[in-house]
Amino acid sequence: MSITMEELRKQFHEQLQQANAADAFEELRVRYLGKKGEVTGLLKQMGAIAPEMRKDYGAKVNALKEEVESSIKKRIEEAHAKELEMKIAATERYDLSLPSTLSEGSYHPITLVQREVEQIFASMGFTIEDYDEIVDDYHCFEALNIPKHHPARDMQDTYYLSNGQLLKTHTSAAQNAIMKKYGAPLRAIFPGRCFRNESTDACHENTFFQMEGIMIDENISISNLIYFMKTMLSEVFQRDVKVRLRPGFFPFVEPGFELDISCAICGGKGCPSCKNSGWLELCPCGMIHPNVLKAGGIDTDKYTGFAFGLGLTRLAMMKYGIKDIRDLNSGNLKSLDQFVK
Ligand code: DAH
Repeated sequence: MSITMEELRKQFHEQLQQANAADAFEELRVRYLGKKGEVTGLLKQMGAIAPEMRKDYGAKVNALKEEVESSIKKRIEEAHAKELEMKIAATERYDLSLPSTLSEGSYHPITLVQREVEQIFASMGFTIEDYDEIVDDYHCFEALNIPKHHPARDMQDTYYLSNGQLLKTHTSAAQNAIMKKYGAPLRAIFPGRCFRNESTDACHENTFFQMEGIMIDENISISNLIYFMKTMLSEVFQRDVKVRLRPGFFPFVEPGFELDISCAICGGKGCPSCKNSGWLELCPCGMIHPNVLKAGGIDTDKYTGFAFGLGLTRLAMMKYGIKDIRDLNSGNLKSLDQFVK
């Protein structure tokens, strides 16, 4: 019997070696472990084995069964990893000098990352909200604990409209309205286009995208914040990304942090895309300031929360290796056609 088993093991490994696609692995699983499978057949013969040999026989068949199961699982995992590697290698080859092959419309790289991040947060119970691009002073600043004449306003050189309204400078401008709309507990993300009067260079634009997120509930702490940020980044990049968290000041969070990621363009050595620092500020975040919660009608004795402002434009640049932010708004079709999906 053990010779048959040995032969079967050999035959299985030969066939597994040749299999290279998901359906081939599944076919092998059915052939060996299915109801009428070869290994299942050996198990069924148990009754016909002399009682004194049964224990030894059973142990051998079970070992074979486990070996078959784990070998197939290992090959499936290897195939997945290889597929992913190929995908990453393909998306990282962003080269504006390639001729355009566009014959039909395609999604903008920012739309692609936005959708990806939306999916990740939706799977963690966050709703996706839409918000205006033209807002008032209260929502963009006052409700976020940035009163008139607060120096923090200087960091956001704002485009004011003649009627006193303004182009939103950050997605945080939606926090107040969303807190009032849903109350607590609350988990929401809100992507949006933001505007600031910037002198443009490889890493600054006057129009860019952010994705804000807030989570408010009982007992929310910094560990929740770090967990969600880490999960999001490892899902987006599908590999380990070097990040660092350092203190940062934003009037609407306390404590506040800057979450930086190691620059994917230069591998952290320093280049124009990261202002030669090797790091990129990607996702400032913090625990929502009680004044902001109160302005949103949230009971601060019961609830706490975290907020983050993910730089979607920067994320797209890092993910796809886009060196100059200005390519993204350039209207140059060549900068889009490498992302046709
Ligand atoms: N709104 C800030 C900006 O654009 C970014 C930010 C910082 C958002 C901290 C947050 C946060 O939600 O918690 O400069």
